[in-house]
Amino acid sequence: MNVKSLQSHHTHYASLGSPWSAKADKVQSITGILLGCFLLAHLHFESSILLGKEAFYHVVQFLEGGMFSSTGHGFPMVTKLFSIFILIVVMLHALVALRRFPAQLGQWRALRRHMSGINHKDSHAWFWQLVTGFILFFLAPVHIFTMITNPEIGPHLSAERVYHANAWLLYALLLPAVVIHAMIGLYRVAVKWGLTANRAGLRKVAKVLIVYLISIGLLSLISYILIGRELSLPITPFVP
Ligand code: HEM
Repeated sequence: MNVKSLQSHHTHYASLGSPWSAKADKVQSITGILLGCFLLAHLHFESSILLGKEAFYHVVQFLEGGMFSSTGHGFPMVTKLFSIFILIVVMLHALVALRRFPAQLGQWRALRRHMSGINHKDSHAWFWQLVTGFILFFLAPVHIFTMITNPEIGPHLSAERVYHANAWLLYALLLPAVVIHAMIGLYRVAVKWGLTANRAGLRKVAKVLIVYLISIGLLSLISYILIGRELSLPITPFVP
């Protein structure tokens, strides 16, 4: 072994064993769990549009603290502040992930050879998480910035954004990427921290959740498009 390869071996093992690396690992898991749980709640709240405009209206008013205002209307400022918080969590999550990206690319090349040989399900899951993570790096901030700069949400306001401002295109790409990334991520964290020994069972749950979440997301997206088509500009916000 020459000096160069000795050095690179040393750096490799040093980075693996350093307390920083263990900390970064924990930060990635904790921020990932937070974002995965947020996504599960987000897609359910947002797909209340499938129960009608009134249902979505009440969900939004509740989440924006409508019970604390005399008129019963919530405060879009709540959405703005929460969106800033989510952006910070996403940035933290991406920062620790990016740190490992070059090493992971090297592993990916090795894995490509390996994947054509044997069919290891967890390697495939890891590969898809890498690809969707890369896509999310560009798409997620666009959506979160929009919610910070334009936090007005409602059956008509959202439909205006989705249909008239063409956000449907962003959502159609973001939805499958984020759902696959988040569900594989939650699966891998559960396996990593030893929450279950039944990997095959957990993989099945993750797959069912992926199909279910993409389905309710797509149906909601179609609802917003249909509502948007009926609206003429400038729109008036929906009031029950
Ligand atoms: C706190 C920050 C966030 C807020 C307030 C928010 C709010 C919303 C709202 C109101 C919609 C419905 C359409 C609209 O009004 O434009 C929507 C759609 C969507 N959001 Fe978020 N969002 C946030 C963060 C995120 C994050 C971090 C992700 C994932 C990276 C995400 C993924 C999506 C997806 C995929 C859709 C489309 C869902 C569908 O197709 O039915 N959102 N979001």
